[in-house]
Amino acid sequence: MTLSSTTPRPLIAGNWKMNGLSAALDEARAVAAGLDGRPAGARVAIFPPATLLHRLAQAVEGSFVLTGGQDCHGEASGAHTGDTSAEMIADAGGTLVIVGHSERRTDHGETCQMVAGKAQAAIAAGLEPIICVGESLAQREAGEAVSFVINQLHNSLPLSLKGQAFNIAYEPLWAIGTGHVASVDNIVEMHAAIRAELISLFGEQGETIQILYGGSVKPENAREILAAPNVGGALVGGASLKAKDFLAIVEAA
Ligand code: 13P
Repeated sequence: MTLSSTTPRPLIAGNWKMNGLSAALDEARAVAAGLDGRPAGARVAIFPPATLLHRLAQAVEGSFVLTGGQDCHGEASGAHTGDTSAEMIADAGGTLVIVGHSERRTDHGETCQMVAGKAQAAIAAGLEPIICVGESLAQREAGEAVSFVINQLHNSLPLSLKGQAFNIAYEPLWAIGTGHVASVDNIVEMHAAIRAELISLFGEQGETIQILYGGSVKPENAREILAAPNVGGALVGGASLKAKDFLAIVEAA
């Protein structure tokens, strides 16, 4: 991606999902070491499972690696067994949080309204949210991909995001963990539609909000995807688990 003084640096985000025990901290240390001393062309963030967040944040402290949570609750505290609040993520050392990932929407029945509440809670705790949207294969095959995603986006964004730092991730469900990456044409079309919606909702701010692509991003396809118009980074699952692959994607940004 070509950078100008007004273009924010792309964000390369590694979502470890439900992977990673203590030994995986070495991969995070290797990412930090790989970025050491280099003026990074991209911002780099790792989203480990909640159990590792505090230790991982400590392990990469002082490096270019940012850390964050994979989800947060919409409430600040209370009787919500098993959940993590945005403030807890910040307290553990995270500065970002993913909300509305399709695996949360599908596995946990999260609605757009809940996702908007999570994004709002993230902002209130001083975190930078990455709000995820994406269509199913059936929706794409029915020609409804763009209308579905824009409606989902519209309903997942609280207007309190105005003036705040946040990112969008477009992750088509059929491209997640499947090895079937979306075509550059599909990505360009969707990111342009998302950009137009962001400008319509947030005015000038909407021009610079980073729109990440996610879904089978690998070292081999990252350069082409990241060079596409309106692609402001990548949300990487499987290929973020090994420092070597993740660093190769950072290198492509
Ligand atoms: P994969 O990169 O494994 O396809 O996962 C994408 C994703 O869901 C990142 O949040």
